[in-house]
Amino acid sequence: MARDGGITPDQLRSARWFAPDDLRSFGHRSRMMQLGYSEEEFLGKPIIGIMNTWSELNSCHGHFPERVKDVKRGVLQAGGFPVEMPTLSVDESFTKPTSMLYRNMLAMETEEMIRSHPLDGVVLMGGCDKTTPGLVMGAITAGVPAIFLPAGPMLRGHYAGKILGSGSDAWKYWDERRAGNITDEEWLGVQGGIARSVGTCMTMGTASTMTSITEALGLSLPGASSIPAADAGHQRLGSDCGRRIVEMVWEDLTPDRIVTDAAVRNAVIVAMATGCSTNAVVHLIAMARRAGVDLTLDDLDALSRETPMICNVRPSGKDYLMEDFFYAGGLRALMTQLSEKLDGSALTVTGRSLAEGFAGAEVYNDDVIRPLSNPVYHQGSLAVLRGNLCPDGAVIKPAACDPRFYVHEGPALVFDSYPEMKKAVDDEDLEITPDHVMVLRNAGPQGGPGFPEWGMLPIPKALIKQGHRDMLRISDARMSGTSYGACVLHVAPESFIGGPLALLQTGDIVRLDVPNRRLDMLVDDAELERRRSAWQAPQPRFDRGYGWMFSQHVSQADKGCDFDYLQRDFGKSAGEPDI
Ligand code: FES
Ligand code: MG
Repeated sequence: MARDGGITPDQLRSARWFAPDDLRSFGHRSRMMQLGYSEEEFLGKPIIGIMNTWSELNSCHGHFPERVKDVKRGVLQAGGFPVEMPTLSVDESFTKPTSMLYRNMLAMETEEMIRSHPLDGVVLMGGCDKTTPGLVMGAITAGVPAIFLPAGPMLRGHYAGKILGSGSDAWKYWDERRAGNITDEEWLGVQGGIARSVGTCMTMGTASTMTSITEALGLSLPGASSIPAADAGHQRLGSDCGRRIVEMVWEDLTPDRIVTDAAVRNAVIVAMATGCSTNAVVHLIAMARRAGVDLTLDDLDALSRETPMICNVRPSGKDYLMEDFFYAGGLRALMTQLSEKLDGSALTVTGRSLAEGFAGAEVYNDDVIRPLSNPVYHQGSLAVLRGNLCPDGAVIKPAACDPRFYVHEGPALVFDSYPEMKKAVDDEDLEITPDHVMVLRNAGPQGGPGFPEWGMLPIPKALIKQGHRDMLRISDARMSGTSYGACVLHVAPESFIGGPLALLQTGDIVRLDVPNRRLDMLVDDAELERRRSAWQAPQPRFDRGYGWMFSQHVSQADKGCDFDYLQRDFGKSAGEPDI
């Protein structure tokens, strides 16, 4: 039944496949019957693709086979016809050299699977870091109604009476193990306790950052991103998504109506207030550009300066994890605190405004979700730097580093590769002081390859033994959203393609000034010019295959690392396929 301003059954996208009285449609209908469905089940109904990023090696999505059933239940209840569409399962734990190499592959797959099949709307099932932006980027470009179902965070980690946070505590305990402070038994206990349920990392790492951003963009149901994966509420969320996507199809509520300038701005403000992962920068830019919103690093920095970080969840916050955030009221409650800064009129997948979605939410623990008058950090969690080391920008997370590094000068210790750096940090006799600036290059989008999460360079053993746990580190890599410390990341252009980081030498003095957003090497221009003319480009990382294609087409960090030919302004869309 058509709704006001919506579509009628004969206008369903899938009707092009199934409705005509011709030979092709006969074939499509007969193949549906081969699958065991009678015409009454699918003809004239919204066909809902459930884009499922599950695999048996994706530990964060272990509940998806069950959750698909909940989504299907909702779709059927609302009069739609659900079909599961398995898509690329990119996970943080096992995908090497880095899941980031495959974010764009997932985005391409999502876009093409939607475009080439008789789907009227999609439920996007993701959560483990890159799956969220990958699915969202593809769905925005594909342009059919889409709703994002976040995997939900796992339960708090637990061992021997202590609460453990994903990633963050792994690094912390590893440093203690390297310092000889914990036993094998304790190490094994942490291993078993740090990830004890299905769901995504339960710090405010990249997964929860990206699902929170997606909710703030308006692409998830209100409150969805905060529900723990193991909570029965998450099953109900699955069927809610199933019911709602069917209505969205009738309403013709497509992503371009949701992902507007105002929505992107809302998402950035929420990201900064949550103490987001540095990866948010790259993914936000890429997602926004897919919708034709030209978000820049400078926009992100400007909004960060005026948005206090009010979410006290680790690693930027001190004490709490996503489970606590859920009990404290979750993202809806956080958005009530930000209501004066947000554009509450932005449309969401509910068909109503963002403000209607968080209306009535309460903060139940104001130490977890702080009022603006008592923030965890007075600005947003990220700062964008520029200078002669990073003319196209770099990112630091001041909220998660020791304030004594906000303004810092020290001699560089430069490594050209990860193995070289790793060998040095394990050398107990390494000549290094806490004022040194450790630098890793050839770790960017092309150099890594794939922009790996190497940016939280390990503190050298020599310093660990002296009790140091932070130092200034610089790279053209990313870092895990669960990481922390004085790490400058995403230096652009990257060194592998001749960015100025390639010209830095061990012993050069590097100067960081976070309040003034500067990062420079104190080397004069004539000397830099001399080094530039002597610089030789390294051998390409790939000679064939997907990696070769990636290297040819990936953009730099400040542009979101999308492929040039996937971006909106690259060329005209192929449109609907001939049937
Ligand atoms: Fe999947 Fe962290 S490993 S979200
Ligand atoms: Mg991560």
